[in-house]
Amino acid sequence: MKEGDIQLLNEIARFEQEHDMEELKMGWSWRHVRVWPATLSRLFKDGYLDNVFRSNSYTGYRLSALGRAMIDETKNTEAIVAENSHKPLSVSDNLFSDIIGHEDIKELLIACLMAEKPVHVLLAGPPALAKSLFLWDIERIAGEKAIWLVGSATSKAGLWDVVAERQPQILLIDELDKMNAADTAALLSMMEGGRLVRAKTGRELDLTNPLRVLAASNRLNVLSPELKSRFAVRKLTAYNRSDYLSVVKGVLVSRESLDKELAGEIAERLSNLSQDVRDAVRVARLSSQLGVAKAIKLLGIGG
Ligand SMILES: Nc1ncnc2c1ncn2[C@@H]1O[C@H](COP(=O)(O)OP(=O)(O)O)[C@@H](O)[C@H]1O
Ligand SMILES: [Mg+2]
Repeated sequence: MKEGDIQLLNEIARFEQEHDMEELKMGWSWRHVRVWPATLSRLFKDGYLDNVFRSNSYTGYRLSALGRAMIDETKNTEAIVAENSHKPLSVSDNLFSDIIGHEDIKELLIACLMAEKPVHVLLAGPPALAKSLFLWDIERIAGEKAIWLVGSATSKAGLWDVVAERQPQILLIDELDKMNAADTAALLSMMEGGRLVRAKTGRELDLTNPLRVLAASNRLNVLSPELKSRFAVRKLTAYNRSDYLSVVKGVLVSRESLDKELAGEIAERLSNLSQDVRDAVRVARLSSQLGVAKAIKLLGIGG
């Protein structure tokens, strides 16, 4: 079925509803519905129309059972989409189960996801503190209800159009500090919610379902004060030694499939040299070839 055909079938259905089909015993013609005859004959060939009369001067159609079914089906999926975007998220206990520690942030984010009205949260702090992981986990449960961006909207259309088209409940923005000026301006007004009018096009964006924004950034000082003030800014600080030990052990066992002993050895050796979990991942990946000590040395960690 071609794009636009559903709309045509809908218009035809409306025509049939508004007119007495008993009087139009020979069916309606292309002049009635203002659809090009060749298009109608294609819809007929595909089974969406019945041909109820044919002479040299008049071809009369009616919507077929299949045509009606097509309309009903799309109505249903539209209803499901609409319902979906208004349904609250089902937040399960294991939402952040792959993240070790950060208990207060987990609790905060879950509360924000379940709150009736939006509280926007910005996770800020140095790299490798699981900021992106938090956003990924939320995306995993939100599915279609969320839009994920790194920096700016990648489409040429920009953030405003992406949000207008997809009507997400949640905007996940990683590396907020890299967002361009146009998208940042759009974001500022979207975060206040309500009825918005885009200055340039006069196009309205009706956020009946107020958007909630969860963002991450390595840097805070480059963000404008008006943007920062729209967020609850949660600063994450680099892991201390004992956090680092437990995070590295957990990550190496669950994500890098190391045995506990080797994971423990790498964690212990690195805990005095690094605060970056990614260092441990690199060591783990080279350790089978180089051994732990040499991998650390060649990678130049702590040196
Ligand atoms: N608390 C943690 N729990 C689980 N994995 C972590 C944790 N902290 C860091 N990591 C790991 O460190 C790496 C970097 O995490 P990421 O979320 O990309 O950090 P960020 O976005 O803060 O730079 C990932 O491989 C992630 O699995
Ligand atoms: Mg990140």
